Amino acid sequence: MRQADLPRYSAVTRALHWLVAIMVVATIPIGVIMLQEGLARPTQDLLFILHKNGGVLILLLVALRIIWRLRSPAPPLPATIPQWQARVAHWVQFALYALLLIMAISGYIRVRAGGFPVEMLDALSLPPLVPRSEALAETAQQIHATARFPLVALMLLHVGAGLRHLVARDGVFARIWPPVGR
Ligand code: HEM
Repeated sequence: MRQADLPRYSAVTRALHWLVAIMVVATIPIGVIMLQEGLARPTQDLLFILHKNGGVLILLLVALRIIWRLRSPAPPLPATIPQWQARVAHWVQFALYALLLIMAISGYIRVRAGGFPVEMLDALSLPPLVPRSEALAETAQQIHATARFPLVALMLLHVGAGLRHLVARDGVFARIWPPVGR
């Protein structure tokens, strides 16, 4: 069977996958850079606005992805893929969803419990949904700063495996590519 004829993820799943991937890959370095000392105030403010509001969009998109994934299951893997690889891939994907939710929710709580704005949501007049509490903000900050390590490690594993399938042309990468189109 030609690669183009193999069963692939739905157009919505592929578009959401690549959109979230680009946003997360941008959000992590922005989060690290915005905390560096010596940044000009306007630059730091802009990075914080991009990070916080981008992070909230990621949260909404990941929630949408999970709902969509439950309604539209993954297509079957090519029969050449060993069982153990399929199982590892499954758990890595599950952990990536969980870590993205943890990162986005802890970031949100850190900001709201600390009494800071999330500009996009404030413009929509949404309530903070989280009580003001320095202790809560501190705990959320620690979770946010720690969960990035397993997130980055699993992202590297996921990207590495994806590139391996791309080079091997075994039909796995073609399931999630192209981002748009049929
Ligand atoms: C999946 C989404 C997100 C990712 C991957 C992410 C990633 C990161 C990373 C890597 C850092 C640097 C941590 C450090 O160096 O200690 C950071 C910091 C930060 N993020 Fe996020 N973030 C996300 C979502 C959010 C959201 C939704 C908000 C708020 C609405 C947010 C608010 C913050 C804040 C305030 C900091 C600075 C923490 C501090 O006070 O030290 N993040 N983020």
